Amino acid sequence: MLTFQKVLTGFQTRADARAERTDAFADGIAWIENEFVPIGKARIPILDQGFLHSDLTYDVPAVWNGRIFRLDDHLDRLEVSCAKMRLPLPIARPELRRLVMELVSRSGLRDAYVEIIVTRGLKFLRGAQAEDIIPNLYLMAVPYVWILPLEYQNHGAPAVVTRTVRRTPPGALDPTIKNLQWGDLVRGLMEAGDRDSFFPILPDGDGNATEGAGYNIVLVRNGELHTPRRGVLEGITRRTVLEIAAARGLKTHVTEIPIQALYECDELFMCSTAGGIMPLVLLDGNIVGDGTVGPVTRMIWEAYWDLHDDPQLSEPVTYAP
Ligand SMILES: Cc1ncc(COP(=O)(O)O)c(C=O)c1O
Repeated sequence: MLTFQKVLTGFQTRADARAERTDAFADGIAWIENEFVPIGKARIPILDQGFLHSDLTYDVPAVWNGRIFRLDDHLDRLEVSCAKMRLPLPIARPELRRLVMELVSRSGLRDAYVEIIVTRGLKFLRGAQAEDIIPNLYLMAVPYVWILPLEYQNHGAPAVVTRTVRRTPPGALDPTIKNLQWGDLVRGLMEAGDRDSFFPILPDGDGNATEGAGYNIVLVRNGELHTPRRGVLEGITRRTVLEIAAARGLKTHVTEIPIQALYECDELFMCSTAGGIMPLVLLDGNIVGDGTVGPVTRMIWEAYWDLHDDPQLSEPVTYAP
């Protein structure tokens, strides 16, 4: 296993190499209305209900070093989200899988963030049956997204527990359906910005922590991992974290986490397909643990990136020569 620092240097080198590309898909590619187009030229029809009413669901697998990570787990979650939304998958799953691989292959991106969006389509649900409406599919692949920029991964970041906004409650919007109704998360981002952070953690309104703008949170206390059970997306990265911990004999708890527990933990991190394991070292201006990236976070960080080469969890993309 490579060390934290060495791995980070390798990541930066790959990002620098990509930045030198000048071809049409260097900044990304989209698949819209049966066509592959450069990301900057991609347009959605204004009448799409995904745009007008956020009537959609989506999922995001990532490609890392030319291998796509946990694609079937992402497609499973997408199918469950679609079923909960009464949105039929616009094309059969094997075809979707093939299309995703072709998209990445055409992009030439070795490290990519791949978004699969299913919208209600062009017809509003009012006065219609969900089953009678033809949904739309959109795909895009862009260079890998780091919620916590690479240069901060080694040092950690400051986060805030939001005071002006709580997470939309599950009874209003089921957060296990991956969705883009980001009103609460965007308000959280704005509050965080006002308080010298980019990383909000939203409470649930009952004194418990939920998640942030595009990431789950995990705390470490006495060598055990805890992550919120309710009011959150069931992240694939979080699942990977829990599997890594369990494989090393660490206890894991998916449970209610009182906000207070965040201030009393030894280590705290965010996790997401967009950035992996992202350490937090300050919370509302208070030092988390000893203020450095802790040993459990580092171990999980290293194991997480290592797993991207594991043939059980990732598969190679075939690129044109
Ligand atoms: C609200 C929210 N929570 C958690 C996550 C992390 O999920 P995953 O690990 O599957 O990327 C995301 C990812 O975009 C998200 O939007």
